[in-house]
Formats: sequence, structure tokens, C-alpha cells
Amino acid sequence: TPDIPVANVKAHLAQLQSIATANGGNRAHGRPGYLASVTYVKGLLDAAGFTTTQQSFTYNGATGYNLIADWPGGDTSDTLMIGAHLDSVTAGPGINDNGSGSAANLEVALQVARSGFQPARHLRFGWWGAEELGLRGSTAYVNSLTTAQKSAIGGYLNFDMVASPNPGYFLYDGDNSDNTGSGPGPTGSAEIEQTLADYYTTIGVPTRGTDFDGRSDYGPFISAGIPAGGIFTGAEGRKTAAQVTLWGGTATAFDACYHASCDTTANINDTALDRNSDAIAYAVWTLADGGTTTPPT
Ligand code: PHE
Ligand code: ZN
Ligand code: ZN
Ligand code: ZN
Ligand code: CA
Repeated sequence: TPDIPVANVKAHLAQLQSIATANGGNRAHGRPGYLASVTYVKGLLDAAGFTTTQQSFTYNGATGYNLIADWPGGDTSDTLMIGAHLDSVTAGPGINDNGSGSAANLEVALQVARSGFQPARHLRFGWWGAEELGLRGSTAYVNSLTTAQKSAIGGYLNFDMVASPNPGYFLYDGDNSDNTGSGPGPTGSAEIEQTLADYYTTIGVPTRGTDFDGRSDYGPFISAGIPAGGIFTGAEGRKTAAQVTLWGGTATAFDACYHASCDTTANINDTALDRNSDAIAYAVWTLADGGTTTPPT
């Protein structure tokens, strides 16, 4: 598995910050900063050789957009999808929530192209609109699929808030083994969780389970019976003393700027961004091509 250059991921975050700054301070649904964010991501993917589709939907009287990017090749009846919401709240630029997942997935997609990766499974990336208004874009996407198209998606990986400034390393608890809040997910979710866990084992970073209850864009996928998983570094919740012992940091909010104007490029933990970008690449390479790859260090 390639090592994802965190500097490239940070360069995407700087671009998303500039887009927000130039458009009233946010990248929210129905605001110009959202469409400018889609245009930025789409331009890089088109140039890299992806087949992109901008899907429109309407919510709250405004047009929203999902960006879908297919990597040509692989078995389209067994597609692995990787997604992140690209919208922010109106209060701020949304750099951790969710520039982080959007930028990490973008750089993994660009690395797929640079590597000429031709896995057995088909790869499709998605950037969702209007997550902050109730998972509107991802719901519109899943609702737009026929039964056969839903069955052709063998797994969905979701990344929402992967560089919180006081990070935890949480995996959606697809096997319902280490979080009592929810789960288990559709069959196959446990394998996704285990694959992500394997990456953290190789770098010696402990992980914990977190609610698999639909509080991000994997919700409509698991409702449709599609196995899913993902990483989360924490939002408004407070890191406990035990979690400080586990991961370092302080016994304060994982992200004190959650949904606030201070969720800027200063609100990013670079180590978490680097580890999680590499974890995404490891999961994509492993799950898309039969599980024989060496993790990046
Ligand atoms: N979906 C939440 C938001 O965008 C963040 C979140 C992600 C919460 C994952 C829990 C788990 O605000
Ligand atoms: Zn790295
Ligand atoms: Zn989010
Ligand atoms: Zn949010
Ligand atoms: Ca678990």
C-alpha cells in the first residue's frame, strides 16, 4: 500500500479553506462555497482519469450536489465505495468537519491513479452534499439506485472528521464487539472494521469502537443492507482521563471547534490526518484486491 503524503492532504485543506474565505466563510449547502468545493475536487479527479458525475438534488429550496467518481476497471458487480461529506455548516469553513475526510479520500483517489492500481473490485468514490442538514446527499444517492445497483455495492467506507485537534482513534463498531451503543451492521461490516483495525495494529496505535448508529453518511448505506465502516477522531464529546492515557492529548473536547467558525486549517491534528489517510489507503488496497498488501509506515 502506498504511503499517502500528508502534505498533499493538507494542500487540499488549504484550498478548501481559501474557498470558504472567498465565499462568506463557509462551504454550506446552497451557498457558493459548496459548489466551488465540488468544482475543486472534480477538476483534480477528471485530470487524473476518473469518470465523474455531478448528481443534483433539491433540499430546503436549494440545489445540492453529490460528486461521484468511478475508477475505470474492476468488477462493477462488486464495487467498493469510499465516501465523505463535502459540505460544512454555515457557521464556519468545516476543515476538520469534513474537509479532513474529503481531502484524505481525494488524495487516496489520486494515489490510485498515480499507482495505476487495477484491483479486482471496482472503485467508486463519493463526496456528499447536505450531510449537515440530515444526510441529504447520501440519502438521495442511495435512493437513486435500483435494487440491482444497491446489490452491486459490496462495501462502503465513510470518513467524517478524521483529524480532530485532540484526537481519538475510533472505528465504527461494525461487529458490535466493543461499543454497546449500536450495531452490528450488515454482514461484512465486521471485516471492514477488522481491516482498519489491522492497520492501527501495525503502527502500534490503539483503537476503540464508536456508535454505528447512522450519525453520518454510512446511515443510508447500512439501511440498504450494504456493509460499511469508517474512522472518526471525535466531535463535541470530551476525551476521558482513560482516553488521555491511551492516546495523549487533554481531557477536553475532541474538537472544541466542532460546527464553529474556528474549524479552520488551524483545527487539524497533522499526526491523526497522516495516520488516517494511510489507514484509508490500506483499507482500499486490502479490501479492493483480496487482502494481500503491506501497510505503509
Ligand atoms: N456526522 C457528524 C457531523 O458531521 C459528525 C459525526 C461523525 C458524529 C461520525 C459521529 C460519528 O457533524
Ligand atoms: Zn504517512
Ligand atoms: Zn461531519
Ligand atoms: Zn458536522
Ligand atoms: Ca468493534
